[in-house]
Amino acid sequence: MQRIAVLASGGGSNLQAILDHLDVLGDASPATVVAVLSDRTGAYALERARRRGISAVHLPRAAGEGALEQALVAHEADLVVLAGYLRLIPAAVVRRWTGRLVNIHPSLLPAFGGHGMYGHHVHEAVLAAGARLTGATVHFVNEQFDRGAIVAQWPVPVHADDTADTLAERVLRVEHRIYPWCVAAIASGAVRLADDGRVVGALPYQFPRFGVEGPRHPFVPDA
Ligand code: GRF
Repeated sequence: MQRIAVLASGGGSNLQAILDHLDVLGDASPATVVAVLSDRTGAYALERARRRGISAVHLPRAAGEGALEQALVAHEADLVVLAGYLRLIPAAVVRRWTGRLVNIHPSLLPAFGGHGMYGHHVHEAVLAAGARLTGATVHFVNEQFDRGAIVAQWPVPVHADDTADTLAERVLRVEHRIYPWCVAAIASGAVRLADDGRVVGALPYQFPRFGVEGPRHPFVPDA
């Protein structure tokens, strides 16, 4: 059973989706969430953890860079899952958990990623660019913001009347579908980061194929 530490700065809806998915897998689950760590004391993600009896740890900025690594080691984290965590991951943590450190980003990387591209900034940039398509990307984390090897992506259409809020909501629904699947696939070893830096293996579900989806919306997976 792989031990997952989730890092979150905000509401933690992706954390919730992961917890729910692992619950559904039940005895077949390859992993369990053992800790939720946050840089923000008021993060609702911490409350979600407490309610389930999961270790909820606030790591204040003043605790310094080493505190994150110490907390991950103390919880014997095999896999580190970033779910709306806004701080840069220290290089020592990236090195120690290479191939076992994943993030989700609310755009189709490498578009609309990088320093300062988080939360609504991403969706506002997508709208300002007039992009017709955005999406969600799950990727391994390296030392550059949003540049690690891509595990999975799912497209989401941009509608003419979208605001950053409506777009964020549509993308988030997709995040909640693909992230838990990716986390489980990585935890089970079905998908992994190879020594040459490429992602190998197969996700245990099909991505949409344009034009062959029948009556179902081609971009948004079934809830
Ligand atoms: C998500 O949009 C995720 O892609 C980004 O931060 C947001 C976190 O939302 N990295 P939540 O806290 O999981 O609800």
